[in-house]
Amino acid sequence: MSTKGSLRILLSSLSILASARVSPRSTIQWGPCEEGEFNTTLAIQCGTVPVPLDYTRPDSKTFDLELVRIPAPIQPSRGSIQLNFGGPGSPTRGGAIATAPLLQVLSSGEYDFVAFDPRGTGKTIPIICTEDLFYVGQILGDTRSSNDSDTALRRLWARGTTDGYICQHLGRGNETAEYIGTAFVARDMISVVDALGEDGLLRYWGFSYGTTLGATAAAMFPERIDKVILDGVQNPHEYYHAHVDFEGWADSDMVFSHFFTSCIAAGPEKCALAALNKTAAELEQDTWRLFDRLREAPLSIGPTVFDLVAIKGLFVGQLKDTFTWPATSQLLAVLLYGSEVEARAALGPMIHPATSNNPDHLASFAFTSGLWGIHCGDRIPRLAFFEEAIPEFTRLAETSRLMSDVAAWVTVHCAQWPWHAKETYMGDFNVKTKNPILIAGNIFDAHTPIRSAHNVSAGFEGSGILTVNGTGHCALSAPSECSFASIAAYWGNGTLPEPGSVCQAAGPYDGHTWTDVFAALAPTNKTEPLEKRGAYRLWLS
Ligand SMILES: *[C@@H]1O[C@H](CO)[C@@H](O)[C@H](O)[C@H]1NC(C)=O
Ligand SMILES: *[C@@H]1O[C@H](CO)[C@@H](O)[C@H](O)[C@H]1NC(C)=O
Ligand SMILES: *[C@@H]1O[C@H](CO)[C@@H](O)[C@H](O)[C@H]1NC(C)=O
Ligand SMILES: *[C@@H]1O[C@H](CO)[C@@H](O)[C@H](O)[C@H]1NC(C)=O
Ligand SMILES: *[C@@H]1O[C@H](CO)[C@@H](O)[C@H](O)[C@H]1NC(C)=O
Ligand SMILES: *[C@@H]1O[C@H](CO)[C@@H](O)[C@H](O)[C@H]1NC(C)=O
Ligand SMILES: *[C@@H]1O[C@H](CO)[C@@H](O)[C@H](O)[C@H]1NC(C)=O
Ligand SMILES: *[C@@H]1O[C@H](CO)[C@@H](O)[C@H](O)[C@H]1NC(C)=O
Repeated sequence: MSTKGSLRILLSSLSILASARVSPRSTIQWGPCEEGEFNTTLAIQCGTVPVPLDYTRPDSKTFDLELVRIPAPIQPSRGSIQLNFGGPGSPTRGGAIATAPLLQVLSSGEYDFVAFDPRGTGKTIPIICTEDLFYVGQILGDTRSSNDSDTALRRLWARGTTDGYICQHLGRGNETAEYIGTAFVARDMISVVDALGEDGLLRYWGFSYGTTLGATAAAMFPERIDKVILDGVQNPHEYYHAHVDFEGWADSDMVFSHFFTSCIAAGPEKCALAALNKTAAELEQDTWRLFDRLREAPLSIGPTVFDLVAIKGLFVGQLKDTFTWPATSQLLAVLLYGSEVEARAALGPMIHPATSNNPDHLASFAFTSGLWGIHCGDRIPRLAFFEEAIPEFTRLAETSRLMSDVAAWVTVHCAQWPWHAKETYMGDFNVKTKNPILIAGNIFDAHTPIRSAHNVSAGFEGSGILTVNGTGHCALSAPSECSFASIAAYWGNGTLPEPGSVCQAAGPYDGHTWTDVFAALAPTNKTEPLEKRGAYRLWLS
C-alpha cells in the first residue's frame, strides 16, 4: 500500500479503540487507569512493573513503576516504544498521552507506546526537598538573574548553598536522592523491556534531556537496542562531567537573532514587529535596551514584579516553540514601543501569581526538585567555593548573552548539591549498538544545538542524523513532509537518512503544523485531521 493510502486509513482509524494483543510472556497486567487521572479519549491502559529501589544491592527493596500504554491503532503491534520528554524533572505519562496522536502517525500506527514517570518526577518515588510552603515560596520567588546587580552572582551562589541545605536538613532528600539518577532510570527501561516480554529489545524515543537518558541506556545496554530516536540532543559528556551545559546554549543567541530576521522576512501580516519600519538589527537592539530598562526599573504588574528574569524567562520558553512567535512579536511590539498603560494591559493576562495553594506552583516546585535531584545527582564534579565558579560563569557569559544570566541558576545548585547518584554511567559514549540509532535536531534550536547531535552521532557507530532546517526545540517542533518520511522509514525498516541530507521545514512565522503536513499527504479527507490541529503536536514542558 502507498504511504498516502496507509496514512489516510491510519488517520481515520486513530480514534478506534484497539484491543491490544497480550504477549504470552508479558508479566504486566494491563487494566484501566485510575479514574480521572488522565483526561483523554485515547484507549489507554495502565499497569505496573516492580523494580529495585537500589540496583546496586541484590537485597534492595522494590517499588512499582506505574506504566501507561497507548496501544497501536494497528494490531497486532510490532512492539512497544518507550518515551521521555525531557526536563529532567518532567513526568512522562501525561506527555506521552498528549503527544501519542502525533507519534502514532509518525510510526505508521504500528507500535504501542509505553511510558512511566522517571524516578524523582510525577507518580513514582519522589524527591521531596521540603513540604514547608514557606520555603517553597522562598525558593520559587528567588529565581533571579545572575547579572541584574553587582552582587547578584554571589547572592545566587548563596541561594544554591541554602537550597541544598533545605533539601538535606529540612526535607526528605536523604530518603531518595541517591536512587533517582539517570543510570537507574535506564535500568528501569530495561526492566520494562523484560516485563513486556516482546523481543527483549529496547525501542525508545527521547526528546531533550530524554536524549541523555536514551544515550545512557544505549551505551549501558548496546546489545539490547532495537530502534532509538534521540531528538533535540544534549551533549551527554557535559551533562555528566561539566559544571554547566555550555553547549546547550551555543546557538541561543543565533536563534534569538533569527526571531527578528525571520519576522522581517515573514512580513507584517504574520509578524507584528515587521510593521514598524525597523530592521531586524534595530528590533534586536531595542529588545536588548528593553532588557536593560527592566533590569534597572522592573514593572509592578498586579501582585507580581515583571523584571529582567521575567522577560528572559519568556524568551527561554518561547524560543522552544514557534507557534508562540506571532503572539510574542505582538507583545514585544507593545513592550518596546507602546505606552506603559499599554504594556500593563498586555502583560496583565499573562501573569499567574504563585500562591501557596496553587497547584501550578506546587507542580513547578516538584519540577524544580526533580531537576536538581536528577541532573545535580548525575553531575560528577562539585565546586567548593564561589571563587572556583567564576571561570565557569565567565565561559557561560561568552557562550550566550541571552541565556547566561538565567542558566547560572542550575549551576549554583548542582555545584553544591549534597548527593551523588548511586550509579553514574562513566563510559565515553563510544559504542556499537545492536542496531543503529537515529539522531535528530533542528538547525535553529536555542536549547539543543545541532552540533550536539553530531557530537553524539560520532560516538554511536552506524548512527544516522536527521537534520531539519527548521526552528524550535527538537526536530518534531518543525513539521515537514521530509522528516515525516524519514522518521516513518526508520520505524518501518531502520532506514537512516542520507549522510549530509537536510529536511526543509516552513518558516517560523508560517504556522505550518503536522496537521497541514498530514493533510497534504492525505488530500482526499481534509475534514478529520484539520479539526485535530492541537492533537498533532509535540508537548514538551
Ligand atoms: C477534558 O478534556 C476536554 C477536551 O479537551 C475538556 O473540554 C474538558 O474540560 C476536560 N475535563 C477535565 C476534567 O479536565
Ligand atoms: C540527612 O543526612 C545528613 C548527612 O548524613 C544529615 O546531616 C542530615 O541531618 C540528614 N537529614 C535529615 C532530615 O535527617
Ligand atoms: C521608514 O524608515 C525610513 C528610514 O528610516 C524612512 O525614510 C521612511 O520614511 C520610513 N517610512 C515610514 C512609512 O515610516
Ligand atoms: C551583565 O550585564 C551588563 C549590562 O547589560 C553587560 O554589559 C554584561 O556583559 C553582562 N555580563 C554578563 C556576565 O552577562
Ligand atoms: C563531544 O563533546 C565533548 C564535551 O564537550 C568533547 O569533549 C568531545 O570531544 C566531543 N566529541 C566529538 C566527537 O566532537
Ligand atoms: C535553510 O533555509 C533557509 C531559508 O529557506 C535557506 O536560506 C538556507 O540555505 C537553508 N539551509 C540549509 C542548510 O538547508
Ligand atoms: C524502507 O522503507 C522505505 C519507506 O517505506 C522504503 O522507501 C525503502 O525502500 C525501504 N527500505 C528497505 C531496505 O526495505
Ligand atoms: C473522512 O473522515 C471522516 C471523519 O473521521 C470519516 O467519517 C470519513 O469516513 C472519512 N472519509 C474517507 C473517504 O476516508
